[in-house]
Amino acid sequence: MSKPIELLHQKLEQAKLGGGQKRIDAQHAKKKLTARERIHFLLDDNTFEEIGALVTHRTVDFGMQDQVFYGDGVITGYGNIEGRLVYVFAQDFTVFGGSLSETHAEKICKIMDLAMKVKAPLIGLNDSGGARIQEGVRSLGGYADIFHRNVMASGVIPQISAIMGPCAGGAVYSPAITDFTIMVEDTSYMFVTGPNVVKTVTNESVTSEELGGASTHSTKSGVTHLTAANDILAIQDVKRLLSYMPQSFEEKPADLPYDLQEEVREELESIIPDNANQPYDMVDIINGVCDADSFFEIHKDYAANIIVGFARIAGQSIGIVANQPMNLAGCLDVNSSKKAARFTRFCDCFNIPLLVLVDVPGFLPGTDQEWNGIITNGAKLLYALSEATVPKVTVITRKAYGGAYDVMNSKHIGADMNYAWPSAEIAVMGAKGASEIIFKKEIKDAADPAAKLKEKEAEYADLFANPYSAAERGFIDEVILPKHTRRKLIRAFTMLKDKTIDIPIKKHGNIPL
Ligand code: HXC
Repeated sequence: MSKPIELLHQKLEQAKLGGGQKRIDAQHAKKKLTARERIHFLLDDNTFEEIGALVTHRTVDFGMQDQVFYGDGVITGYGNIEGRLVYVFAQDFTVFGGSLSETHAEKICKIMDLAMKVKAPLIGLNDSGGARIQEGVRSLGGYADIFHRNVMASGVIPQISAIMGPCAGGAVYSPAITDFTIMVEDTSYMFVTGPNVVKTVTNESVTSEELGGASTHSTKSGVTHLTAANDILAIQDVKRLLSYMPQSFEEKPADLPYDLQEEVREELESIIPDNANQPYDMVDIINGVCDADSFFEIHKDYAANIIVGFARIAGQSIGIVANQPMNLAGCLDVNSSKKAARFTRFCDCFNIPLLVLVDVPGFLPGTDQEWNGIITNGAKLLYALSEATVPKVTVITRKAYGGAYDVMNSKHIGADMNYAWPSAEIAVMGAKGASEIIFKKEIKDAADPAAKLKEKEAEYADLFANPYSAAERGFIDEVILPKHTRRKLIRAFTMLKDKTIDIPIKKHGNIPL
């Protein structure tokens, strides 16, 4: 081997070791994979092309000139997932705790720029102690360079963040801007200020896990969309997510091959209980209408009164937004509106058609909701569904009351096809509440007010607690049998495949954030 070639081999071998075997062992002892191992499990075999393996930092303060590691704490490059091109960075905790230096940031920016030029997804595997403390403001500048690119890439290419170790300080804002965040349980956390600062400022005692672990962010804050028990499962989630998405906004998601069959689903006939106030699991309906095992629920443990997720219908990728009667009777509230609005906007960015399943008694009443801005937040979902130009199909399974009827992808805000089951109740409010208001005097003056209320309630229910008043006006296109729903949806989404719609020319809308 010639000397120059030997030198190259030496350098690349050194780069592969990151911060050295001792630190690699420490990483494994924490049940974490190394950055290189993560990339290996993420990408198709032998497809990873590394960029910038020999980059080093330029800092000379604090004796840093004596601690130089090739790669500078992040491995960057491109490769394939299921044959599709993706760009990837994986922070290497074995080098200065994966902390972000000026050059580390430059490496990430370089592949972000390539991802934008080529229009292919970006995947970030985060595992970092935050800003490289020895570099001061140069590190902060590096973060902001990344944030700006995240914003520019938003809606152009899918961006997915896996959090596989610490992610603290401003570092959390890059994942927050990206489309989906997955956290690994027990080994990752995200917070703007850590437990020590919290203690100093607010005197609260809290552990890292309580403050910003996977469970906290999947249930309380909604910051993470998915959690996984370990690195490998998190990587599998990244791949599964990607399978529903196109490469960029310029494409549609790929269809899986599907042979059309009879598509009748008898099991859907017996899901809605006879008693309209009894809950049922909307997931049963989702599984009944979608391709087998295709439903991938997102944000499952946050705002469980609404369900969002990806699925397939006859091989076509779709996004689902559905009320969940099992939780808060399926009412819309602040968190569920935010959750569904963001998911809707993601689907609309990337040409993923939307299926909206409706069983909603209205907005959740109360001071907590009003004071936390149910007006502004409910408007987010109204805005997002209204604005979406992808194919939009609605099925009302039971209740569609009041403003929530309008919000949940009604014909009036641009849904393309609106179906209702015979069990649908489409009205301004429930029969009891309505009767108490409009027949107040009659009920009060009656010899038996309770009997009168019952009589009026039945009268109102007969007139409005059904899908027919809406169908007569064309607000519902068709009242369908539950067992035929899947077939109807397959036909509707196929019919809508080439939908195009022009929206008014503008710089951008002003969604009530
Ligand atoms: C430089 C760092 C570092 C950092 C860790 N290291 N964080 N080096 N800058 N931010 C180094 C350590 O010196 C150590 O080096 C190695 O990484 C591993 O760190 P340990 O502390 O031994 O590991 P562990 O016990 O697992 O703890 C991990 C940690 C802790 C919780 C992340 O290191 C830590 O608290 N780091 C500081 C976190 C922080 O405050 N960051 C700045 C946040 S402010 P050796 O040589 O021993 O292996 C911020 C602002 C961003 O990020 C703003 C953007 C807008």
